[in-house]
Amino acid sequence: MNDFDYLEEGKVYLDSACQSLRPQPVIEALNKYYTEHNSCGERVKYKWGVVTDEKVEETRELVLKYLKLPARKYTVSFTLNTTYGINLILNQLDPKHFDKVMTSDIEHNSPFLATMAFSKHTGLPREVIERNSDGSIDTKKYDFTRAVVVVNCAGNFDGRKLLNIKELVKIVHKAGGIIVIDAAQAMAHSVDIIRGIEADVICFSAHKMYAPSLGVIVWRDDVASNLVDGFIGGGMVDDVTKDGYILSAENKEHRYTRFEAGLQAWGEIVALGAALKWLIGLPRKAWQDLENNANELYEFLESSEKVHLVNQEANPTMAFYVEGLDSHLLGSALSREDVMARTGYFCAHYYLDHVMGLPPLIRFSLGLHNRPEDIAKIKKVMEKIIH
Ligand SMILES: Cc1ncc(COP(=O)(O)O)c(C=O)c1O
Repeated sequence: MNDFDYLEEGKVYLDSACQSLRPQPVIEALNKYYTEHNSCGERVKYKWGVVTDEKVEETRELVLKYLKLPARKYTVSFTLNTTYGINLILNQLDPKHFDKVMTSDIEHNSPFLATMAFSKHTGLPREVIERNSDGSIDTKKYDFTRAVVVVNCAGNFDGRKLLNIKELVKIVHKAGGIIVIDAAQAMAHSVDIIRGIEADVICFSAHKMYAPSLGVIVWRDDVASNLVDGFIGGGMVDDVTKDGYILSAENKEHRYTRFEAGLQAWGEIVALGAALKWLIGLPRKAWQDLENNANELYEFLESSEKVHLVNQEANPTMAFYVEGLDSHLLGSALSREDVMARTGYFCAHYYLDHVMGLPPLIRFSLGLHNRPEDIAKIKKVMEKIIH
């Protein structure tokens, strides 16, 4: 795709699940912010600030449009990344409204550890749900009464999805609980799984969806009634007295400030808007190319006797190990050929190491920048190394 023409020929980047490459329009939007309207958002009256305000507001609207969620019920706040988003929520949830916290076995350390910390500081018990091999959750097996449920809707080593997300959200709500969805791996290539799903909170990282480094918290306005103030500062208040304050978030129009303490990454927020427009405007062919590339690479790996895939089906993200070959050494050998892939447990230690008992793995995560030539090169290099 032309928007990645800056990529040097022969360089094969396979770490999109960590952070995707940024297309030219996103880089241009960030540059434009720095060179044409570098300014603090939401508090300055001069012209540059007005431009920034308009664009930041547009990004909030685009996030909801992309997720197909109603603005009358949801608010978009910005933070550093998915990990910060989940921790900001959990650290400010009032435990008196809940009986336990639940997460699942295939989580990234981000929700896995945050739920541990939540359990520790609130004294509420923590339960780890076993996800089915297709990514769904057996809702009959678990009791969700007044539970805080924190789960991903797409995994980070094989992309498996929370197929019954709609049913789960309904059941958790019926049981008086709330559900926080980690959508970090869904936003770029699997957004359909989360679109229109009225979870209480959705956290994700813009850097995994072709935008600059940034975190996003999309939250239902009624979550506010479960929060205590725990992380607070400039930009969040309408008035301050010696021992008190009025939160700007009391007003629907400024509700986003609830999680936005201090100055925000205005340029990155503006460029997330550019990334969303870019994603929304992509031709069907771009998605078809991604799927074809993923299928071809998956079939190649699946057909190799020495390769043990974690995936049960093709996905742009695939993890595996090669019999008799240390994954870290394989990663280094690939790197010498300009093929950039990740090795280890990808922050999913509990499941990959302790549940599955797998050795360190190698992960290929494709993106919209990859071309058929990349797949041909990976196959050639892998053949050379493995055989
Ligand atoms: C499913 C999932 N959740 C959470 C995270 C954490 O994202 P970040 O490091 O941007 O906070 C990742 C990162 O890879 C992820 O894949």
